[in-house]
Amino acid sequence: MTIRHFLNLADAGPEGVTAILTDAQARKAARAGFTKGRVDADAPLTGHVLAMVFEKNSTRTRVSFDMAIRQLGGTSIVLDAGTMQLGRGETIADTARILSGYTDAIMIRTDDHAKVEEMAYYASVPVINGLTDLSHPCQIMADLLTVIEAGKTLSGMKVAWLGDGNNVLHSIVEAGGLLGFDVVAACPNGYHPEPGTLELGKGRATCTTDPRAAVEGADIVVTDTWISMGQAHAEEKLAAMMPFQVNADLMALAKPDAKFLHCLPAHREEEVTSDVIDGPQSLIWPEAENRLHAQKSVLRWCFGQIG
Ligand code: CP
Repeated sequence: MTIRHFLNLADAGPEGVTAILTDAQARKAARAGFTKGRVDADAPLTGHVLAMVFEKNSTRTRVSFDMAIRQLGGTSIVLDAGTMQLGRGETIADTARILSGYTDAIMIRTDDHAKVEEMAYYASVPVINGLTDLSHPCQIMADLLTVIEAGKTLSGMKVAWLGDGNNVLHSIVEAGGLLGFDVVAACPNGYHPEPGTLELGKGRATCTTDPRAAVEGADIVVTDTWISMGQAHAEEKLAAMMPFQVNADLMALAKPDAKFLHCLPAHREEEVTSDVIDGPQSLIWPEAENRLHAQKSVLRWCFGQIG
């Protein structure tokens, strides 16, 4: 049987993505009010072990995947690159084969997408992309679930992206191409998406340097941190990005019932003002929680239980 890796949304395709979202909604509803550590009644991944390899820091991805596999009846092992032989010269190929002998799935976060592809090539268990320099498919599954919960219809909606052309944008564009929604990215010159990325939108993704045009009539407004947590603030980048800040004036151009998303972590008063990110249109808290619910269904999809 073909191994189901989840390196990008295209691995699941529109049918798989839809199945994951449907399953996530049902499972989330079924455990409403339960304590977080309670295992789901059907415990569908009993006995399964998820290895999580982190070459980059994380709060949401790490905790949500750990809780996801536990709620499904399994368990996880967290491996930080700094304490693995991988971080001291052992190859990805050898690491993939070793972890495949001990565990049932591997989630990896790295700043080099080629490493995730290499892990999947050599692993004999499913590999999940927990964020790379090119994409963040698990984040977008949570975002889509959040948008559906907010009453939006994915097909035909307009998503406005404000910021640089990063990995999160790439996955939003990919989702738009698979599910049939429009993405307008407003990025300053010099910070546009990687060449070829907009093609993932299958004709529905465009890029502009005009933030107001991007947000006009949008159903969803999205941004991301301009400076990764822990990195020194780059004054030149901040100056270029500041006209793309999501603030109340910009949000007023979107549809009256538009919603705001941010994958977090955030720098308030940089990419977004406090009144927007902490205001009534913001969905950041359910968006963050939905990492858990969406990833439970991603795991089930990887094991062939849905889709
Ligand atoms: N959004 C996201 O991936 O958060 P973490 O970096 O905390 O995992």
